[in-house]
Amino acid sequence: MSPRDLQARELLLQVDRSRPSVSRQLEEQMRTAIRSGALAAGAQLPSTRVLAEDLRVSRGVILRVYGQLAAEGYISLRQGATPTVRPTVRFEPKTVDPPNGQPRVVYNLRPHLPEVATFPRRPWLRAVRESLEQARTADLTYGDEAGLWSLRVEVANYLSRARGVSACPEQTLITAGSTHGVSLVSRVLARRGRTVMAFENPSHYILRSAASHGGQTVVAAEVDEDGIRPDTIARADSVYVSPAHQFPTGVALAPERRTALIEWAEAADALILEDDYDAEFRYDRAPVGALQGLAPEQVIYVGSTGKTFAPGLRLGWAVLPQELVDDVAQELLNSMLHVSGFDQLAFANFMHRGEFDRHLRRMRHVYRARRDVVASLLGELLPEYDVRGIAAGLHVVLELPSHRTATAVRAAAGTVGIVVDSLEQHTFADYAGPAGLLIGYGGLPEPALEQAIKRLAEIIREAGPAGAQD
Ligand SMILES: Cc1ncc(COP(=O)(O)O)c(C=O)c1O
Repeated sequence: MSPRDLQARELLLQVDRSRPSVSRQLEEQMRTAIRSGALAAGAQLPSTRVLAEDLRVSRGVILRVYGQLAAEGYISLRQGATPTVRPTVRFEPKTVDPPNGQPRVVYNLRPHLPEVATFPRRPWLRAVRESLEQARTADLTYGDEAGLWSLRVEVANYLSRARGVSACPEQTLITAGSTHGVSLVSRVLARRGRTVMAFENPSHYILRSAASHGGQTVVAAEVDEDGIRPDTIARADSVYVSPAHQFPTGVALAPERRTALIEWAEAADALILEDDYDAEFRYDRAPVGALQGLAPEQVIYVGSTGKTFAPGLRLGWAVLPQELVDDVAQELLNSMLHVSGFDQLAFANFMHRGEFDRHLRRMRHVYRARRDVVASLLGELLPEYDVRGIAAGLHVVLELPSHRTATAVRAAAGTVGIVVDSLEQHTFADYAGPAGLLIGYGGLPEPALEQAIKRLAEIIREAGPAGAQD
């Protein structure tokens, strides 16, 4: 993060009034943020008055917090000057020792990683405690395979309100994430004799794998700057798309393509499988509503908390056309894989109290700042290579001259502990589109991102355009 005036809300501080010492809570959170690099050396902190107002605590509390952190050497306080994080506090990237002698991971730039260091632990703990206290005994036994009713209500409300999905709880099922949703739907369609599923090329290889394990023959459809090209979908019974933010190219499905895709589905008597995996994070405008809202009986909608909250929770949802609800619920039952009812209770409580919305608002801000750092640094250090993709989600695409260059850069980066995906990893075998790296910024604070991008830019420079002739 470049030195500048931080707004109080950017500090992501949380006060839990049910715990004894508010000042100690704030000290602890700020210390952690400074040590981790989330609050960079030189960052200017809000004045005691502004922070106190923002957090609805007395100014004396903030004076105590700042005083303590200054005494410990984390921040500098001078009469009349803005409180500032001291430059002596250095961000030390954490390294993870792999089990089998592979290189260490110093910077993980993979595109699917959200920030979990700022996971709202206290509000989540409150949700766990409250939901358990309030749960009926029936909630603690075998639940409905389609999901806990109260969570289905919350999710349907949320999706209608925030994503423009035409959702009612009866048609909203709880899954263990988008991949699980794709897997369930693939199995159900295959059992109905619908065995060909088109996928965008490129698209996430894990999702394609889930579809083929679910009995689908996976075929490719082309993607350009406007998203999937319906005219390139060969005969298929269904098509998987990520319209709000195509993974991995980062483009959005253009309005005329949305219509064309629905028309294609009508003409082919096919279903559309919409993966709305990270649409909440749009930084240049309000998120575009889901495709499902345009044709609810033709679009199967899957979503997840994997990017918006924490992948470890394994909680997502599917909103289904009426005619698929029973079969997918049955498939859920047969899959023997359900999200724990206890987690469903907690997440329903968390959503009900507005904590999920609050978390999204907070994280949108965090990711936007990270994306800005990555995009501007890449522009500065590698002006000859374009940064692609709309301002959304958790990754950018850095276009490179060839797949060979991208593969070489990826391998060289790996040897110094920088883990990054290439576009090619997500393509079908005969892909002829642009090459590039997928640079995820979700999981690293700005100081670490700066270090990682600088190092990566050096590696790209060293690789040079030599690989351009493939
Ligand atoms: C395109 C796409 N869809 C979905 C997901 C999330 O999948 P899940 O909910 O199974 O964690 C990801 C995560 O990387 C993704 O890239």
